[in-house]
Amino acid sequence: MINGGKKLCGKIDISGAKNAAVAIIPAAILCEDVCRIENIPKISDSAVMIKILHSLGAGVRVINDNTVEIDSTHMNCHTVTYEMTKHLRASYYYIGALLGRFGKARVAMPGGCNFGGVRPIDQHIKGFKLLGASIFLDEDAIVDASADCLIGSPIYLDTVSVGATINIMLAATRAKGLTIIENAAKEPHIVDLANFLNSMGADIRGAGTDVIKIRGVDRLHGCTYSIIPDQIEAGTYMVAAAAAGGDVLINNVIPKHLESISAKLIECGIEVEEFDDSILVKSFGRPMRCNIKTMPHPGFPTDLQPQMAVLLSIAKGTSIINEGVWDSRFRYVDQLIRMGASIKVDGKIAVIEGVDQLKGAQIKADDLRAGAAMIIAGLVAKGTTEIDNVIYIDRGYEDVVEKLSSVGADIRRVTVSEPSASVSVG
Ligand code: EPU
Repeated sequence: MINGGKKLCGKIDISGAKNAAVAIIPAAILCEDVCRIENIPKISDSAVMIKILHSLGAGVRVINDNTVEIDSTHMNCHTVTYEMTKHLRASYYYIGALLGRFGKARVAMPGGCNFGGVRPIDQHIKGFKLLGASIFLDEDAIVDASADCLIGSPIYLDTVSVGATINIMLAATRAKGLTIIENAAKEPHIVDLANFLNSMGADIRGAGTDVIKIRGVDRLHGCTYSIIPDQIEAGTYMVAAAAAGGDVLINNVIPKHLESISAKLIECGIEVEEFDDSILVKSFGRPMRCNIKTMPHPGFPTDLQPQMAVLLSIAKGTSIINEGVWDSRFRYVDQLIRMGASIKVDGKIAVIEGVDQLKGAQIKADDLRAGAAMIIAGLVAKGTTEIDNVIYIDRGYEDVVEKLSSVGADIRRVTVSEPSASVSVG
């Protein structure tokens, strides 16, 4: 529940990156040793990835909310059931990790955010096959992968895919010989995964460029590693500050990762000041319009597209958003229209005519980032906004209610026993 219209003022600390954590947690099984991973965001996606580790027989010692020690020395299982994978897309990283460790993996096809279109994994499969693995999809939608010995190979990705780049890196780390991924994704979490694997003794170069070279090694050893700050969480709070107005220091970030979003906010007339590991966002009055095309990194991230749509809903003038990564990622627009936004969607294009103000409404989170956008809409709107399905938001934002309350938002989490029934504070 959000009572909108409050200016935000103060400091928000950014947590570890979700999309790095969900790759690094399974990567830990590539060594027969203990890895200590720090700065894991306290979100449900991390919890599920750790639960899968348990189910595979790895030892997991929780040191505190954000640190675990993973001991995969005595792991003995290579099967991950749908009960485990249905919650999130990234569960498919266990295919690459188990294949790399044991030469076999049985992993149910993943669940995760549904943007309304298909989310193929053909490039993952192509990569595994080029490394010498046999891959079958059985009648229960279990991916069955096996190889006597993975052999390094050149792999050209037909499309820039974060997931395929990560999965191939995981499988190739202990393969024999050299793997070269061409047209690789360059997101910050790809670099973070490479740094983690190299800390365990892997030989990976070029992460962060579109050619990644992985020279397979026989063994890896344990290490201590701290995950980078979350680019998308930081960008979400930057947009929240820009839209709600006020003066917010977004702390513990890597400003370089946020350049595309800073540039767009500046174009909208928002003040953005960079420091070594923080960014100050100041906003007064309505933003100006701008156009956005989402692209793989270093382009404007698709995972900040719904949040920016809220900002542009109250901008002066007409803005155009072109979704360049997913076939369809505008399902949330219906919710914004119910709040008074003026948006027309045609395929991958949304045309947004800025209005003076949004008004509070009963809305729902359609997926993780759409849910974050609904929170921003609630902060901006006049009156009370009730957001349903916040379970999606918990997948990727640590303590979202607490962080926003600490900078002056009037937001609280409530538990509803029955649809439309009495509401109690939880
Ligand atoms: N694609 C294919 N074939 C494949 C793989 C991808 O055609 O085998 C296409 C997809 O359909 C899409 C494009 O390639 O059109 C990019 O997909 P990508 O594989 O890069 O996405 P992903 O790995 O499934 C990750 C993030 C998403 C984020 C995208 C794009 C994780 C766990 N997920 O997904 O994050 O939107 O990259 O940056 O890292 C989120 O955090 O909310 C989220 C959805």
